Amino acid sequence: MLNGKKIILGVCGSIAAYKTAPLVRLLIKAGAEVQVLMTADATNFITPLTLATLSKKPVLVHYFEPTTGSWNNHVELGLWADLMLIAPASANTLAKMANGLCDNLLLATYLSAKCPVYFAPAMDLDMWKHPATLNNVHKLQSYGNTLIQPGSGELASGLHGEGRLAEPEEIVDILEKAFATGYPLKGRKALVTAGPTYEAIDPVRFIGNHSSGKMGFAVADRLAALGADVTLITGPTAQITVQAAIKRVDATSAQDMLDACLQVFDTVDICVMSAAVADYTPVTVAPQKIKKQATDLNIELKKTTDILKTLGERKRKSQLLVGFALETENEEQNAIEKIRKKNLDFIVLNSLNDAGAGFKTDTNKITIIDHNLQKTVFTLKSKTEAAADICQKITELIE
Ligand code: CTP
Repeated sequence: MLNGKKIILGVCGSIAAYKTAPLVRLLIKAGAEVQVLMTADATNFITPLTLATLSKKPVLVHYFEPTTGSWNNHVELGLWADLMLIAPASANTLAKMANGLCDNLLLATYLSAKCPVYFAPAMDLDMWKHPATLNNVHKLQSYGNTLIQPGSGELASGLHGEGRLAEPEEIVDILEKAFATGYPLKGRKALVTAGPTYEAIDPVRFIGNHSSGKMGFAVADRLAALGADVTLITGPTAQITVQAAIKRVDATSAQDMLDACLQVFDTVDICVMSAAVADYTPVTVAPQKIKKQATDLNIELKKTTDILKTLGERKRKSQLLVGFALETENEEQNAIEKIRKKNLDFIVLNSLNDAGAGFKTDTNKITIIDHNLQKTVFTLKSKTEAAADICQKITELIE
């Protein structure tokens, strides 16, 4: 979403200015062109050289550059940008923005900007809570500017409370959403499962599988980027979520995952089951660590409940249910049988026979087969791109 987008980052004098270094890196990594503007005070907290190096562009502070004798044209800057982000926005700059003051380049550019403006305040909690600041924020919102809510936690003053600059990942996430072409899934609720399950044998051992959770997390991210409220129920995985619209619920065993799914399924519009759920679990879990024996060891297993099938039986007509199939032979036939058996709207098939598909890789090669047996074969893509294809199909079917 940010690829090729022109972003002005206005940095104010706040200790949180140090977070603009990773913020600029993330924006550049996402393909954005970033022009950093700083207030004079901001340069006391982070050097223009740091941000110029990361943004690959000279940082602008003054109207007039004494070294080059050139004039920094705020009107041109305001017209150039696709989006202006002020982060960290200090109480002083918020007040000036709200009242139309323009005693520096950043403020003059703000007044000239024709693009959407986002502001991410950072200040001590009492300054943030002060009615004067809150009034200024409301004024800015009434101008159509968008507040990026500060976080809560330990502040530079040592006090605890609201006022921390939102994390760079959250800010980038919000900007990506801003550039998304609308939010086709706004107001929709989604449930996604991801990762493996661990079935305990004894207090130290389990039966698990190689699922990394990458595909499910990519689907959850994409659904959230399209505006959905997502509950992500995940087995043990190293993946992380940063989006505020994703509520993560951790589950360990197939039974945990089933219980968690049943708690939310009736309230969701969209359900994507990408978890690699164990089909079998030990009949009993040894209370103590099983000691080595002279003979072979047999562990008796019982079937787990098929979560997807259970949800398929409960599914209302208005709900969209998507399953995954990982096959090694008779791929399409097996996938089609699963659509019928589990009452799915469509299934995402990946074959372990395709290079670059399956567990742990960052890529996937998927085929989508819907309940009308319409088949779409996709090329090998990153899991993020594959998630976008899956969510595109969801968007088409839910409308
Ligand atoms: N699934 C599930 N609960 C289970 C097993 C599987 O919800 N206990 C879901 C997976 O999340 C996936 C789909 O069912 O979306 C397909 O899983 P898979 O294990 O391939 O299918 P099975 O029906 O278990 O068939 P088989 O193992 O024989 O291929």
